Amino acid sequence: MTVIRASDVSFQYRENKKIIENINFSIEPGKITAILGKNGSGKTTIIRLILALLPLNEGKIYINNVDLQSKDGIKYIRKQCGIVFQNPDNQFVSPILEDDIKFGLSNHCIPESLHSDCVKSALEKVNLSGFEKRKISTLSGGQKQRAAAAGILALDNNILFFDEAGSMLDPNGKIELRKLIEKLRNQNKTIVLVSQNIDDVITADRIILISGHKIICSGSAREVLTDYEKLIDAGIQIPFAVRVYKDLLQKGIKLKKCPLTIDELAEELWNLN
Ligand SMILES: Nc1ncnc2c1ncn2[C@@H]1O[C@H](COP(=O)(O)OP(=O)(O)OP(=O)(O)O)[C@@H](O)[C@H]1O
Ligand SMILES: [Mg+2]
Repeated sequence: MTVIRASDVSFQYRENKKIIENINFSIEPGKITAILGKNGSGKTTIIRLILALLPLNEGKIYINNVDLQSKDGIKYIRKQCGIVFQNPDNQFVSPILEDDIKFGLSNHCIPESLHSDCVKSALEKVNLSGFEKRKISTLSGGQKQRAAAAGILALDNNILFFDEAGSMLDPNGKIELRKLIEKLRNQNKTIVLVSQNIDDVITADRIILISGHKIICSGSAREVLTDYEKLIDAGIQIPFAVRVYKDLLQKGIKLKKCPLTIDELAEELWNLN
């Protein structure tokens, strides 16, 4: 089963060279899929193409088998998908937080009598209870990212995109965001995470690694994040445990398996004899 399918998609901005070239991927329902790539590798471009925020010139994109370029494709996709943008300032349309979330609710034809409850519950989910009347311009960067997440949670879309949505959050905020995303997955939402940071994607069900305009590999978090050569190729930081595994190997010490986390590394070292 697939929710999103991209087939032979290429894209270039005007007078520019190809940003993505002939990429194919599918995203499964009820899973967290991460798109991992270094700065400028085309992650946001891919998301913008899926959401029809950029014109799709080459290739096809389907959401639940609905062709993005069909007559009602864009309308359908906007109904199914919600996104927290990389820069939360691009997200808001009203100066006051509550009004901003209510604007989205009105657009989705949710009855006005339910708006206040929806706002309250969405703000609770991102630890911003009581912020209803706050001017968005007075929020910190991390608070804005959480406010933007509240805006899409209120709409209850089935497919949620988080484009570096935790980049301005402190370590606790990042942990909270990860927990929230896992909770959403447990509610059967389809999640697409975009990041250049391995810590953000380690709990993903599947990672798509992009580099040089192409998908260079995809698989489970373990498969992709322990693939030392591919990560180097893509200019992505190597997980600490994988680095130690490689260093030990060079010194002639072979652990039974390549660990992904510090705990696994400790266990492998413990088992050395
Ligand atoms: N509107 C635009 N016009 C021309 N070039 C653009 C435009 N937007 C992005 N690009 C270029 O396309 C490439 C891919 O950009 P994109 O924003 O998709 O990368 P990204 O992987 O999301 O990067 P980051 O990790 O920094 O967010 C970059 O080289 C960027 O400069
Ligand atoms: Mg980006």
